[in-house]
Amino acid sequence: MFTTKDTKRRKVGSRKGLGFVRFVSFVVKLPCMAHSVAAHLQVQIADYDRFIRTVIPGYDAMRAVQLELLARRLPAQGRVLDLGGGTGALAAAVAERFSEVEIEIWDTDPAMLAVARERCARFGDRVSLVARSFAEPLPPCDAVVACIALHHVKDLAAKGKIYAAIHRALRPGGLLANADAVMSTVPWLREATFQKWEDFIVAQGISREQARDYFAVWAKEDYYPPLATELDLLKSAGFAEPECFWHVALFAVFGACPQPA
Ligand SMILES: C[S@@+](CC[C@H](N)C(=O)[O-])C[C@H]1O[C@@H](n2cnc3c(N)ncnc32)[C@H](O)[C@@H]1O
Repeated sequence: MFTTKDTKRRKVGSRKGLGFVRFVSFVVKLPCMAHSVAAHLQVQIADYDRFIRTVIPGYDAMRAVQLELLARRLPAQGRVLDLGGGTGALAAAVAERFSEVEIEIWDTDPAMLAVARERCARFGDRVSLVARSFAEPLPPCDAVVACIALHHVKDLAAKGKIYAAIHRALRPGGLLANADAVMSTVPWLREATFQKWEDFIVAQGISREQARDYFAVWAKEDYYPPLATELDLLKSAGFAEPECFWHVALFAVFGACPQPA
């Protein structure tokens, strides 16, 4: 288990008297929860932003949906957590669009965070990096976003606990907008979905063999539950009306507000 013992935290300053203290955790060791995107995706981190668009259909479309949802729910000076924020592309898009909002990127891969640090430097202390697992307790916030990150939680009970932690962290009126893969367990439908995903990857210039190899490698660490299961988990975690906001092929943006509208 990744505990606070494994990190050395440095206070980097508080902001606008909002009553919270901002920390950046520098990872010394991340025994169990450590994640290496380079190894998992078989990609050089410098190439991640290009590569991800060749294997994830709808990657940019999902971001647009998340931003649109935030525009409807986020207070002007709200605070957003980006779980598994990786190279900071989503956080940067949020910071760009909402000029007074603060964003924390939580991630366990130091190489991804290094890219995020560089990308988000121009936003100063509005964007902070937290080298910590999203399975740890979360601070109060107005929105939680995640993009193709929570599928790393293979155990549904563990995922339910993360959703419950998100529910606790969200202030009234808040929003969870999670963009991720969802997959039917019905064999023929599952097969058809993988086929379409494979066709997309091949259309980006990657060989069919390579695409199948990716799926085999990713399956070791990833789990894409059916959408209905995700929505049930959110309901059990306390969210009043879990909803799918967008869904094309196997990718979806789903989530909920903590309380009924
Ligand atoms: C496929 S990348 C997605 C990155 C980014 N959200 C994006 O849309 O490009 C998944 C990210 O989740 C991070 N991750 C995996 N397990 C994690 C955990 N337990 N806590 C925090 N981040 C985690 C990985 O390090 C990686 O950066």
